[in-house]
Amino acid sequence: MELGLKNRKALISGASRGIGRAIALAFADEGVNLALFGRDEKRCAEAAREISARHADLQVVVVRLDFEQPGTIKPAVDAAVRQLGGVDILVNCAGGAHRGRLNEIPDDAWERYFKVKPLGLIRMTRETLPYLKQSDQGRVINISGTRGREPEAHSMMSGPINFGTLSLTKAMANEFGPFGITVNAIAPGSTATRRWTELVNITARERGAAPEEAEKYLLREVPLGKVITPEAVADLAVFLASARAGLISGCAINVDGGRTRSI
Ligand SMILES: NC(=O)c1ccc[n+]([C@@H]2O[C@H](COP(=O)([O-])OP(=O)(O)OC[C@H]3O[C@@H](n4cnc5c(N)ncnc54)[C@H](OP(=O)(O)O)[C@@H]3O)[C@@H](O)[C@H]2O)c1
Repeated sequence: MELGLKNRKALISGASRGIGRAIALAFADEGVNLALFGRDEKRCAEAAREISARHADLQVVVVRLDFEQPGTIKPAVDAAVRQLGGVDILVNCAGGAHRGRLNEIPDDAWERYFKVKPLGLIRMTRETLPYLKQSDQGRVINISGTRGREPEAHSMMSGPINFGTLSLTKAMANEFGPFGITVNAIAPGSTATRRWTELVNITARERGAAPEEAEKYLLREVPLGKVITPEAVADLAVFLASARAGLISGCAINVDGGRTRSI
């Protein structure tokens, strides 16, 4: 299938590791030039080197950005777009959450994580929008999470962070549609990044079990019985960014092995 992504230009937040990095690699395989945003410049530079080793012809720009310093977002976006010579795709992937129940999460953690998602996502999108309007294939892809649809007491923070992201996705799709820009969300279930390793270790400790047993326990509610790979999330991001997905907007698609119970 011809995806129409060759020579397109993408900004990806949270590209230093995990899902964002997998999306960067998958976009590169389709010929997309990239700006990789992250706090950890060294990790972003490693990702950039990996991409350049596979695709010497691609332009890969590394941009240090910490969403806890909102004043730095606009200059970072402007610089990246200037270097790439435009932008067609924005992937808002940066995020995370403090684990725990309501009384286990301190105020400063709520504030710190909300500055990344959804606040960082809002600011990054606002600064990129004037440039996206100049593209003939504008795309925004927001990485949400299944807890946004099905909150759980033990992951109290993941609910509002990801629910807010879903709501913003729909409203942005309405607002940006007249400019030919699609906006969609991907809601991953538990994905094999460092967060999954943490969760497996916590569960193993809590249950007095080996990590392999804890992993089986965590996967008992996943009909397909497998942990989600960052690459599976990246495959959907590639499709949503492509010319083939030009009439899909305002959607949120789970990549969760079937775990979410609602349709
Ligand atoms: N893994 C899962 O099970 C799962 C499930 C549902 C949803 N998600 C969502 O998927 C996205 C990626 O998660 P992941 O598992 O790949 O996480 P990860 O491996 O921890 O990566 C998180 C990324 O966000 C960046 N980031 C965090 N705080 C930041 C800040 N203050 N400023 C700028 N960048 C910041 C990190 O940058 P540095 O490394 O440079 O600090 C990193 O690139 C998140 O939005 C998460 O909510 C993940």
